[in-house]
Amino acid sequence: MMDDYALNDEVRQQWNLKAEFWDALHGDEGNAFHRYLVSPAAERLLGIQPGELALDVGCGNGTFARRMADLGAQVVATDISDKLIERAKARSEGRDITYQVVDATNEQALAALGEGRFDAAVCNMAMMDMSSIQPMLRAVRRLLKARGRFVFTVMHPCFNSTVATFVMESAEREGRLVDQVFLKLSDYLQVGTRISAGAPNEPNPHYVFHRPLHMLLSQCFQVGFVLDGVEEPAFPLGVESKHLLSWTNMTQFPPVFAARLRPTR
Ligand SMILES: C[S@@+](CC[C@H](N)C(=O)[O-])C[C@H]1O[C@@H](n2cnc3c(N)ncnc32)[C@H](O)[C@@H]1O
Repeated sequence: MMDDYALNDEVRQQWNLKAEFWDALHGDEGNAFHRYLVSPAAERLLGIQPGELALDVGCGNGTFARRMADLGAQVVATDISDKLIERAKARSEGRDITYQVVDATNEQALAALGEGRFDAAVCNMAMMDMSSIQPMLRAVRRLLKARGRFVFTVMHPCFNSTVATFVMESAEREGRLVDQVFLKLSDYLQVGTRISAGAPNEPNPHYVFHRPLHMLLSQCFQVGFVLDGVEEPAFPLGVESKHLLSWTNMTQFPPVFAARLRPTR
């Protein structure tokens, strides 16, 4: 059994190894997942105002940090991967963003960014990649101002976890042959560490830490957050994909779960 330090070090190495691929896949504004689902939902829930101080935890190559800076925020953005932080810095020149390598499973390291200082915090598509989320949630609670808000997006635990399989069936419907895409699910309630291939053609797999919805949200409530906004964004009809069995063709299933939390008084 690996200890926490060794596990998180392996997580860092996995993301460092795929940093170049990830950065090229996302470019400045993110891939289709980001542009259609993650960024719009996070932006609506966060409602960034010019002049606010915003934190991005697990920022990857800085896609959303740049978006918040372009909306007028002053941004502090962190990630466990030093290689991704390098890429993020290179893409963000001229913007009001401070990047820092921080392992978000280390509460003290994250809280050291400044207690009670931030108007808003976001963690996009990264909580399922963190071996534990309680330290990050506790730190974010400490970092936020009393009337601050925290928004997270994750792969939807009910539909888009490594136990979901795409299935296609061809059937006759009212005199026509139609191809229909279904999701086949298993082991939703089984908490645990899984290994994910990530996006098509990623150079190496990485760990994902599956938490069913009730567990994900209860951990937020336990540290003193209340939930006051939720979105389940799905692709609209007509988004092209190279693959028939792709989330873009699953317009009735949300691949992403987005939530807004506020500190309890
Ligand atoms: C799927 S990517 C999302 C990146 C970015 N937020 C985005 O939406 O494009 C997951 C990110 O979480 C980061 N990550 C994983 N474990 C972490 C940890 N313990 N602390 C901080 N970042 C972590 C990875 O390095 C990676 O950048």
